[in-house]
Parts: sequence; structure tokens; C-alpha cells
Amino acid sequence: MIIVLYAGVSINGYIAKKDGNSEWTSEEDLRGFYEHSKKAGNIVMGKNTYRAALQYGYFPFPSALNVVFSNEAIENKWGDNVLITNKSPKEVVALLGQKGFTTVFLAGGGQLNSSFAKEGLIDEIYFDVEPLCFGEGIKVFADSDFEFELELINVKKLNGNTVQLHYRVIK
Ligand SMILES: NC(=O)c1ccc[n+]([C@@H]2O[C@H](COP(=O)([O-])OP(=O)(O)OC[C@H]3O[C@@H](n4cnc5c(N)ncnc54)[C@H](OP(=O)(O)O)[C@@H]3O)[C@@H](O)[C@H]2O)c1
Repeated sequence: MIIVLYAGVSINGYIAKKDGNSEWTSEEDLRGFYEHSKKAGNIVMGKNTYRAALQYGYFPFPSALNVVFSNEAIENKWGDNVLITNKSPKEVVALLGQKGFTTVFLAGGGQLNSSFAKEGLIDEIYFDVEPLCFGEGIKVFADSDFEFELELINVKKLNGNTVQLHYRVIK
């Protein structure tokens, strides 16, 4: 199983402003989320990301199993393409493997990214670095005790101002 994290980030590593707004990422970044979720057949997110995606009209993402991590009892009004779970990242990865998926597409946010990182569950990272810098907000990895090294696979210019960094986690 390959676990791929994808995020649109400010140049200083934020994925959302203080109020949760991440509508400042480029259309190329948003397209990346759709393409990767379609390719993997799944998209995995934390409760706060689910709420933001719902608010902005992106949820559920089409052509993918939408997996939402939450310890809250959220009613599933969408059907079989949505799975709301209170399991651990490791258990969910195993479950997706049993369902026949070979890639897990981790869409964030910062808290869930750190939970995956802490369990050594991230294999590849795509950061779409957007031309913006702000001093307070939600970090791509919430503060947590982990460390890993990366090797650069590719650098791609997505538009005049946005660069995509693609890394592999060294294990
Ligand atoms: N720019 C981008 O690419 C991008 C991508 C994704 C998200 N975002 C933004 O990021 C923000 C959300 O990020 P966030 O860090 O606040 O929250 P998050 O990671 O999306 O969600 C965290 C919540 O998920 C639930 N959860 C259940 N199991 C968990 C586990 N094992 N580890 C972590 N969380 C678990 C917890 O709620 P319970 O305790 O209630 O279960 C937790 O409070 C939103 O504003 C969104 O728009 C931006």
C-alpha cells in the first residue's frame, strides 16, 4: 500500500488561515485533489477538512470512497461512497487494503496528517506551494513529535506562481 499526502500550502507551511479558509489555493491545486482521489479511488480526511469541504461544496468528492475520520457520530447522508470512521489510521489503511485499494490518498488536514506521520504511514508527499505568506493559521502538520527524511522526486511549475514539490519518504 502506498500512502500519498497532497496539500496546497502557503510558502511558510500553512494549509488554511486562522478561520479555516483555504480557498486561496490555485485551480491547479484543486484539480490535483480531484485527479489523485480519482486515481486512488479514495480520499481520506479529518473531520475539520470534511466540514470545510462540505461548506465549500466539494464533499463528497466524486469517483472515490470518501473516508472521514471522526470520533463524533456524524450521520452518513451520502451512502456507500462515504465512510465515517473512528478507527486508527493503521486500521483504516488495513481496511482500505482489504477493499482492494493499492493507494491511500491522504487529503489532510494538519491533525490527521500528523497522526499518519507519527505512525510512519506516509510514503509520498505532494506540496503545491502557493504564492502566499501569512503569520497565523492551520499548519500542514499539526505540532506533534515525529521526524522523517525525504528525497525529491520532481519539481513542477503548475502555473506562473505555483510550484509542485513531489517527495518520497525515506524508510
Ligand atoms: N490547503 C489544503 O490543501 C488543505 C487540505 C486539507 C484541509 N485543509 C484545511 O485544513 C483545515 C482542517 O485541518 P485540521 O488540522 O484543523 O483538522 P483535520 O485534520 O481535518 O481534522 C481533525 C479532526 O479529525 C478527527 N480525527 C479522528 N481521528 C483522528 C486521528 N487519528 N488523527 C487526527 N484527527 C482525527 C478529530 O475530531 P474528533 O475528535 O471530533 O473525532 C480531529 O479534531 C480546514 O480548514 C481545511 O480547509 C486544507
